[in-house]
Amino acid sequence: MPPNSARSESTLEKLRKRLTEEEYYTLTRSGGLTLDAADKMTENVIGLIHVPVYFLEEVLVNGQEFIIPIATEESEVPAMARRGAELTRSTGGFWTRSTEPIMMGQIQVVEIPDFEEAERRVLEQKTRLLEDANTISSTRKAVDLRGRRIETAVGPMMIVEVLVDVKDSMGANLVDSMCELIAPTVEALTGGRVNMSILSNLATERLVTVDALVQKEAVGGEDIVDDVVDACAFASVDPYRATTQNKGIMNGVSAVLLATGNDTRAVEAGAHAYAAMKGTYRPLSTWAKTQEGDLRGHLEMPLSAGVVGGSVSVHSAAMAVLKILGVKRSTDLAEIAGALGLSCNLGALFTLVTDGIKSIKP
Ligand code: MEV
Repeated sequence: MPPNSARSESTLEKLRKRLTEEEYYTLTRSGGLTLDAADKMTENVIGLIHVPVYFLEEVLVNGQEFIIPIATEESEVPAMARRGAELTRSTGGFWTRSTEPIMMGQIQVVEIPDFEEAERRVLEQKTRLLEDANTISSTRKAVDLRGRRIETAVGPMMIVEVLVDVKDSMGANLVDSMCELIAPTVEALTGGRVNMSILSNLATERLVTVDALVQKEAVGGEDIVDDVVDACAFASVDPYRATTQNKGIMNGVSAVLLATGNDTRAVEAGAHAYAAMKGTYRPLSTWAKTQEGDLRGHLEMPLSAGVVGGSVSVHSAAMAVLKILGVKRSTDLAEIAGALGLSCNLGALFTLVTDGIKSIKP
């Protein structure tokens, strides 16, 4: 990878310091995935597709500086992310929080003879069901279970929902295994038939929030603050615009997820469903003017990212990227991804209301 600027030379130097020779080579030359390794990830692998990875330096998240990976085929994304990070620098960057990494599995039970009795028996046996589910992992635990009746076009059915603390994994494999393990007991207790069991990608119990403040001087005055607020007002009532604003957020979120070997589609699906949860499709972020005339941004979204398990532990470039990021917990990775999401969003909105998107074509 020949460096194309003085900046990339210095970035390479910083990456080299954080990695072993082999990891550095993997990341900068081979791309990290051999055909043999790829063949273990899925079936009948006959080739590899590479995407560019850029590293954005000096991003402040919770007062700490990070070098954040951006894996994307879209040439403007690094510039948008960089603009957002620069605009928030004077106020300390991005401030993040996250909930515990709780994912939910759903067991669909049909043909139930008596719903009240079925629900009573499932809840009565909750401890036993959780204990059974918890034979699968010694560290990651199912923490709660509930049943609810839903009405559908083909009749009523019961959904048994299992809440699992997946710790530092994304959690899909674990949750699916737990649900499939207890499905026969659920069937016996309800007197119905389990039709399917699967993780839900609408991870409303695994949320990330990101806040940022941009001084009016940083964007060039209060008029620009007003312009960004106007752009958000547009998105808040118009799903066509809200979709694009959210796409701008996902430019950052998915770029971090892809670089770290995570499931981008899971988070994308959950993000868009979350955006529509109040009945209409809305932007995941808001930008408002403070009393001082500055710009305050807020993002809230479900974000299921893992730092262990799945392809994260197979893809050596993803592992090198995680090492550069220096995050050990899934919640930290999710918060970084959310921060980059808000950064891209800010960079995009600022660009749109000033020079226009074409101004950042590399
Ligand atoms: C392009 O990848 C992303 C933007 O369309 C986001 C937005 O419009 O807010 C520029």
